[in-house]
Amino acid sequence: MRVLSGIQPTGRFHWGNYFGAIRQYIELQDQAEEAYYFIANLHALTTIRNREELWRNTLDAATDLLALGLDPGRATLFVQSDVPEVCELYWLLMTGTPMGLLSRCVAYKDKVAKGIGSDAGLFTYPVLQAADILAYDSNLVPVGEDQVQHVEVCRDLAGAFNAIFGEVFVLPKARVIDTSARVPGVDGEKMSKSYGNTLELFEEPGALKKKIMRIVTDSRPMEQPKDPESDHLYQLYSLFANDAQREEMAAFYRRGGFGYGEIKKALADLAMNYFAAARDRRKELEAKPEYVRQVLADGAAKARRKASAVLLRAQQACGVKP
Ligand code: ADP
Ligand code: TRP
Repeated sequence: MRVLSGIQPTGRFHWGNYFGAIRQYIELQDQAEEAYYFIANLHALTTIRNREELWRNTLDAATDLLALGLDPGRATLFVQSDVPEVCELYWLLMTGTPMGLLSRCVAYKDKVAKGIGSDAGLFTYPVLQAADILAYDSNLVPVGEDQVQHVEVCRDLAGAFNAIFGEVFVLPKARVIDTSARVPGVDGEKMSKSYGNTLELFEEPGALKKKIMRIVTDSRPMEQPKDPESDHLYQLYSLFANDAQREEMAAFYRRGGFGYGEIKKALADLAMNYFAAARDRRKELEAKPEYVRQVLADGAAKARRKASAVLLRAQQACGVKP
């Protein structure tokens, strides 16, 4: 089994990215025969149009992933644009992509609905994502719920290509962490960089605590019990708590007689502790950026070897190479 996933360097990683995606990458690097993970800087170019910011985010993302436990000895970590074969494959796929398929993609529709100007890059974003996946003969794509549709598009495009040109591509499957992994933000909506409601993984402890203390809560009176499952503060707490802590907290909610401030403090303590080791590792990595770059260069070399073989297979199948 070959696992692959990509993550955009559009800002600092937050709890949603960790519990919805990154944690799975790290678990899977031990279970899969091969794991490929990349920083999707070409996809990020559809939203970030600032040279320094994109480059800094790319290195930050790589450093964060290594600090969180991605191990270059077990997984191949690289930057998307370091494998130009993917862009060639993108074109081969594009010629067989129905316009209607792309216009039904939720990620695109959402952005347009929010008034974010659309361009061909945003519209064809899922085709580049399909090329990312197919270029490495990936079997399994661990992603958050919101990306499942894009993996389905990839399967459709690969299936259509195979139907015309023969068995060229391996059809991948998405693997979603259970749906409760939809992490709420400080306002109770889905945590997302684009909603400005994130709690970042490597935020300064003081600043993080302040943000946690400002999590929006309702105006329920102290003594009134509350259903824990419907409360986003409890959902956030549960991400870090062990079973005993979670049950204790749930009982606390059902009993009533507590203020949200206490829960926020408990959440801040648990979260700080949970990421403490990663925070230390990140400090070490920050001191040796050349090491991070070397990991990315080695990863890209390995990824290119695989992608070139798959690209050649596709080129020969459709007649652009003898
Ligand atoms: P953002 O919405 O902050 O821009 P991305 O779209 O870059 O985040 O998401 C990167 C990965 O993290 C995706 O696989 C996505 O599904 C996952 N993810 C992002 N936000 C959440 C969330 N709130 N809960 C669960 N998973 C999430
Ligand atoms: N679109 C994905 C996201 O926003 C990132 C991504 C790009 C990706 N290429 C991919 C994810 C290939 C999985 C496989 O999260």
